Amino acid sequence: MAKSSATFVCQSCGSTTTKWSGRCDACGEWNSIVEEVPLAAGPASKTLGASKGRSLPLSDLSGHEAPPPRTISKLDELDRVLGGGLVPASALLVGGDPGIGKSTLLLQAAAAFANAGLKVIYISGEEASAQVRMRAARLGLREAPVKLATETNLRDILTTLENEKPDLAIIDSIQTMWADNVASAPGSVSQVRASAHELTSFAKRRGTSVILVGHVTKDGQIAGPRVVEHMVDTVLYFEGERGHQFRILRAVKNRFGPADEIGVFEMTGSGLAEVANPSALFLSERGDPSPGSAVFAGIEGTRPVLVEFQALVAPTPHSQPRRSVVGWDGGRLAMILAVLEARCGIPFAGLDVYLNVAGGMKVSEPAADLAVAAALLSAREDIALPAETVVFGEISLSGALRPVGQTENRLKEAQKLGFTAAIVPKGGKSVPRDGIAATEIDALASFVGDV
Ligand code: TYD
Ligand code: MG
Repeated sequence: MAKSSATFVCQSCGSTTTKWSGRCDACGEWNSIVEEVPLAAGPASKTLGASKGRSLPLSDLSGHEAPPPRTISKLDELDRVLGGGLVPASALLVGGDPGIGKSTLLLQAAAAFANAGLKVIYISGEEASAQVRMRAARLGLREAPVKLATETNLRDILTTLENEKPDLAIIDSIQTMWADNVASAPGSVSQVRASAHELTSFAKRRGTSVILVGHVTKDGQIAGPRVVEHMVDTVLYFEGERGHQFRILRAVKNRFGPADEIGVFEMTGSGLAEVANPSALFLSERGDPSPGSAVFAGIEGTRPVLVEFQALVAPTPHSQPRRSVVGWDGGRLAMILAVLEARCGIPFAGLDVYLNVAGGMKVSEPAADLAVAAALLSAREDIALPAETVVFGEISLSGALRPVGQTENRLKEAQKLGFTAAIVPKGGKSVPRDGIAATEIDALASFVGDV
């Protein structure tokens, strides 16, 4: 590595000089100039355009080298969310609420990837080594061949990584890291951005995969990780309700696989357990058919998942009726209420409406429109829908029902879980299935007529 020359940087205005002085010429600040060794000896200090650029025809890129193999962790839920294992030299962000289980998940992932043959280092900035070891013992991973470091200084971390040359480095968490050339507190946007930038460029340069952990509160209170999202290849969110034991790992961005893929886990006394059949889990709390409940046959990423929508409709004591929704988009609920009112003549004025997706699941597919409408109608009319029926379909503002993709997969999953009937939009590419009767409808009004 070539020896990099030091520069002097004003911590107040960011201007650089080649020699130290007591006062910054640019901003006039006293005592603000600090010597800074560039963190990495890159092709810095060259003027743009000075070196020769190089480009290749796309066709030349293929054929010569096989794509680098992905590493399979054997944690199936994680591998699926990653798009089929970990891509070498990739940078990932795992975001989620504090306390949701990110450190637990990543310690388990570290052990799994280490057992799959990768050299893994887990760098904790939040817990002492002894605490991480205690957690590892609790997870039954005491013998896992994972290296452990507790550091928060970015320069030390990069040195550790240069020396260790791991295949995978896990940084828990990006908010605790600080670059000593940035004059703000750890966790501030500029610190998070600087740390993430250094670590992701290290990943690309040295062929190390880097997983960054970031705390995000529900209302996006801690802004840090958001600025990291565009720097990394893959963004995973670890979600779940505190009171529930289910945890969902969701790919919101993935350069190497389908976005919106989910992995489902259950938090147990000895760590996160994989849930191979999430539909069964999400429907497990369903009792006898009751008004306001509708089962939606959805698709999450590449996998069909059945979830239950629950609605409650009650006369409001307030002048302004309440619309409360958990796990589904509030704007979309307002739209469906408007369509029911304008196209089907079913008013919701003067009624409070509560909508909930069971099991702490979040649904974003428009295909759930019909399930939401069904739950609302059933709650309003106080009539239970048939227990063995699933529904799906997108509703347009005209009240027409639009076909949605993957009808076949949805019906197959429903049948697997013992459902015998389905209400689906007309015109979908549905292959008739034995054992499940699909009723095709083309407008919300005809569904209302049936109920
Ligand atoms: P943690 O991984 O520390 O969360 P994060 O890193 O996202 O802040 O998980 C903390 C929670 O998980 C804590 O409330 C306890 C619970 N937990 C279990 O239920 N079982 C376990 O085996 C472990 C390790 C944690
Ligand atoms: Mg943690």
